[in-house]
Parts: sequence; C-alpha cells; structure tokens
Amino acid sequence: MKALVWENNKIELKQRDYPRIIHPRDAIVKVKLSSICTSDLHIIKGFVPNAKPGIVLGHEFVGEIVELGSNIKNLQIGDRVSANCETFCGECYFCKKGYINNCENGGWELGCTIDGCQAEFVRVPYADMGLTKIPSNISYENALFVGDILASGYFGIELCNLQKDDAIAIIGAGPVGLCSMACAKNFSPSKIIAIDINDARLKKAKELNLADYTFNPRKCDIEKEIKNLTPNRGADCIVEAAGNEDSFQMAWKIARANANIAIVAMYEKDQILPLPKMYGKNLVFKTGGVDGIHSKELLDMISKGAINTDFLITQKYPLDNIIKAYDFFENNKNDCLKVAITY
Ligand SMILES: NC(=O)c1ccc[n+]([C@@H]2O[C@H](COP(=O)([O-])OP(=O)(O)OC[C@H]3O[C@@H](n4cnc5c(N)ncnc54)[C@H](O)[C@@H]3O)[C@@H](O)[C@H]2O)c1
Ligand SMILES: [Zn+2]
Ligand SMILES: [Zn+2]
Repeated sequence: MKALVWENNKIELKQRDYPRIIHPRDAIVKVKLSSICTSDLHIIKGFVPNAKPGIVLGHEFVGEIVELGSNIKNLQIGDRVSANCETFCGECYFCKKGYINNCENGGWELGCTIDGCQAEFVRVPYADMGLTKIPSNISYENALFVGDILASGYFGIELCNLQKDDAIAIIGAGPVGLCSMACAKNFSPSKIIAIDINDARLKKAKELNLADYTFNPRKCDIEKEIKNLTPNRGADCIVEAAGNEDSFQMAWKIARANANIAIVAMYEKDQILPLPKMYGKNLVFKTGGVDGIHSKELLDMISKGAINTDFLITQKYPLDNIIKAYDFFENNKNDCLKVAITY
C-alpha cells in the first residue's frame, strides 16, 4: 500500500506492507479521509523526541473497519468510524479518571511511535476505546476532525469552565481556536471574542458567525478593547490557542480577576508567568494535551447540527499528492485552515 513515511528528516510517499492485527484489541481501518496536523510538522522539524524515524505519519482520520481483533465487541467490520488521535486503554489509573492523555499504556502513538493514518490502511490499538461509530446521517467529511482538532477545541472550553453569559476570549483563530468558538456557542456565552494577528482568519471567524467580535492585537489596544466589552473587568474565560510569548502574556492581561485561562497551545519555548504583576488577580491557569474522551458527544452534536466543522477543509489532495499538501498546509496560513487527504 501507499504510505507517507518520515525518515532522515524528510517525508516520502513509499510502498509499505498492509498492517495486520497483532493484538486482540486491534482493528484495521481502511482510511477514507485523513488530515495533516501542526503536530506532524513538529515531528518533521525534530521537535518530538519520541517520534520514531521510519514511521508512517498521521493521527487525524476517519475510515471503515475492515478487520477486528477477537476481543472487540462494540464494533463491527464495515462500521464507519472516527479515530481518536490518542491511544488509550480505558483501564489504567488515568483512563479511569478520564485523563486519557496520560494513559499508562498509550498516549500519542499513531503517526509518532507506531505507523499512522497517512496511508491506505492503519492498525489502531485499543480500537474498542479509540474508534467511535459515525452516525448514519453524517459524512466522513463532517466527522474528520472529531478525534483531534475538534476535541482540542472542545477541551479548551472544558478547561476554562465556560458558563452561560460568560464573555469568552479565544486567542488564535486557527483550526483549534475556531473549533473552540464553534463549541463555545453551545454554552450560551454572552459574547465570543476572537483574537488573531491574521486578518484573513479573523474575517473567516466573523463570516462564519463563530465570533461576535474580532480583534487584531497588532492594530488595536487589545486590553482596552476587551475592557470596553466587559464593563471594565476583562474576559471571564480565555482559551490560548496561538502558542507564543505574546499570546501567552495577552492571556493573563485580558483576563478579569478570578478568570479561568485554558492553555491549549503547545509552545516551542518556556514561558514566563510574571507573578508580582499578576498578584491579586487570582487567576486559574489550566494546561493540557487534549483528553479526547467526548468523541461520541461531539459526533452527536454534529449529527444534530449543533457543531459544524466542514469549513475547516479548505483544500483537498489525493494521497498521491500528499507532499504538496504538506507544503501548502505549512506555507499558506491565509488560505489554508486544514487540508483533507482523499483516497
Ligand atoms: N492541547 C492539545 O492537545 C493540542 C491539540 C492540537 C493542537 N494544539 C496546539 O494548539 C495551537 C493551535 O493549533 P492550530 O492548529 O490552530 O495552529 P495555527 O498555527 O494554525 O493557529 C494559531 C493561530 O494563532 C495566531 N497567532 C499567532 N500569534 C498570535 C498572537 N500574538 N496573538 C493572536 N494570535 C496569534 C496565528 O496567526 C494563527 O492563526 C498550536 O500550538 C498547536 O500545537 C494543542
Ligand atoms: Zn494533531
Ligand atoms: Zn489507560
């Protein structure tokens, strides 16, 4: 089969053997659509120490089950499924608490330590946990982001504990930030404020009616604008989905006293918390790699029309052209949110 392999610091489309069941809780999935994630770029750039050279990349996909291990009772051959980006056993200390990102028997494996989904077929370990049936009224396209980007956006909303009538500010209107906005709508906030330095992305947030207000902090006094909207207090909830020094500092500056700040972004450097300046603001910071345990709820919300992430697919490329897709995804932030790889 064809597979995108990462080796010697570069990616190449190669011929690989079909994956096989090696454990009774495995499934083999025929990939129907996959995507490229910023984390894949992190691997290629050498920022992911765990990544194993020679693996097939990719962890965001949907597909059809073609083979099942003998211990899997909740899925059937032929099921259309969305896949979780993380592998988790469902039985260890952390899984039992819902903290699957820290599963003692899993973690980020697909496309990192074991072969991933940017191939025609993929083996999914603990498939009874990591695969979720797609409701019959929604398409593969509708479900593509459930296991990674949408889960991360939803996770941000959970972390900042968004309540009805809260004013939420979301820093970064990339795929994750936009998904947080789409999820936030379901919690009836008083206002959703999108902040980005990229005007094209802000325009998208506004056009899609995902945000009530949009601001480019390079073109305004962002603290002042947020205070104007939140009678001089600051935002109740903040999701930081941009991931650099400026956005990290902005997160606490635009927060009202006692606000919740969800740090969903992944930084390439250490960040500084200026505690003396923040003293008395009594902020709650929560950080996290996504605990993607809500796939079923998210699929149900998509099925009912409460969330729609179709707008994220801005380009499609067949697997044969995946190298071009990587290049476009990395270098065209104005025009590209996510690429879908077709099969
Ligand atoms: N926690 C998790 O499990 C998880 C999962 C997926 C992605 N992530 C991380 O979430 C972050 C967002 O992912 P993405 O795919 O949306 O990335 P992205 O790079 O497409 O989007 C980030 C956005 O932030 C904007 N930005 C940059 N600096 C800014 C600033 N100073 N102020 C305001 N906006 C600014 C950029 O213009 C861009 O639109 C990344 O750091 C990614 O690694 C985390
Ligand atoms: Zn990812
Ligand atoms: Zn576990």
